[in-house]
Amino acid sequence: MQQVKAVVARAKGQPVEVTTINVPDPGPGEAVVKIQACGVCHTDLHYREGGINADFPFLLGHEASGVVEAVGDDVTSVAPGDFVVLNWRAVCGQCRACERGEPQYCFATHNATQKMTLAEGDDAGTELSPALGIGAFAEKTLVAAGQCTKVDPSARPAAVGLLGCGVMAGIGAAINTGAVGRGRSVAVIGCGGVGVAAIAGSALAGASPIIAVDIDAGKLETAKALGATHTVDSSTTDPVEAIKEICAQTYAGAEGADVVIEAVGRPETWKQAFYARDLAGTVVLVGVPTPDMTVPELPLIDVFGRGGALKSSWYGDCLPSRDFPMLVDLYQQGRLDLDAFVTEEIGIDDVEAAFAKMHDGGVLRSVVIL
Ligand code: APR
Ligand code: ZN
Ligand code: ZN
Repeated sequence: MQQVKAVVARAKGQPVEVTTINVPDPGPGEAVVKIQACGVCHTDLHYREGGINADFPFLLGHEASGVVEAVGDDVTSVAPGDFVVLNWRAVCGQCRACERGEPQYCFATHNATQKMTLAEGDDAGTELSPALGIGAFAEKTLVAAGQCTKVDPSARPAAVGLLGCGVMAGIGAAINTGAVGRGRSVAVIGCGGVGVAAIAGSALAGASPIIAVDIDAGKLETAKALGATHTVDSSTTDPVEAIKEICAQTYAGAEGADVVIEAVGRPETWKQAFYARDLAGTVVLVGVPTPDMTVPELPLIDVFGRGGALKSSWYGDCLPSRDFPMLVDLYQQGRLDLDAFVTEEIGIDDVEAAFAKMHDGGVLRSVVIL
């Protein structure tokens, strides 16, 4: 066991604190990782607001990269010294999805068995709930070995760590769930970190046109920088009509985009996505709705009559062992600009300030450097 500094949310709605935690030595199937960089994601803020569950205290942080320090006796997939990106879906290899050769849909993903605990204060000894089973706003964290994916060690930690969550969700929504490729038109509704990653993924896959839709002009500028060929400000322009028009300019007779990615997580934007796709097109919902939201009223004949597919994308339907090394290599070759997602590098004391900046619009990701 060792003690390290970490960012903990002790109670609902309270500012996070930097405190000392106990990190057990790795047992069977586990690894201790020395964290180098960890992005600040909306999900961390949702945890501290009590929006995910009530299992306080939370050890926040989950978009991270670092170096494996120690592994359990039986671990062979990674070794001390390996540079890894952490993932929150370590696959089991035994469930129905894994057995049928689709581990990206594993129904029984797992985390470390042992618990990290608080080391300071009246509640010292209390077990921590690591965000998404990771907890990487910490000098070191304990994870399942399967949560560590080895990548090119010469890559910049702050940039590649972001593949661990939002950036992978967006890229994967396009290339995995949406099967975007050359000769396909794409529209992305919502251009936050996830949406612009979907745009970057679509550009990487060779799609054209790539239409970015947002209500914030600043987000549309970023979208352009990451590969959008057209932008639509949906606070002033009907996005459905605009998407149809742009697609018809490239592909005569097109009645919308082949793939429309919804990266907001709201019924009205999902409905825009539904009506902005071409016949036999695909809608991909990667934005996360809240439990009170319902499917907007849609004539069933419109669902049937358009054919195609209405899909959801969890974590970009990624398989970390397949997708992380590939995307890191493309980044190293200059074909995927992960640096563009790192708006600022901050210290471990600055997480609360980074939460406050999230709604400014100018920040794609603040990344804690450890
Ligand atoms: N129409 C178009 N864009 C919108 C609308 C709307 N009605 N409402 C909000 N947006 C835009 C915002 O301006 C912002 O650019 O959607 C974007 C959302 O971005 P972020 O808040 O930065 O969220 P992000 O991290 O990209 O995640 C998007 O995916 O993982 C989920 O929970 C996450 O639901 C969220 C979504
Ligand atoms: Zn499985
Ligand atoms: Zn995240």
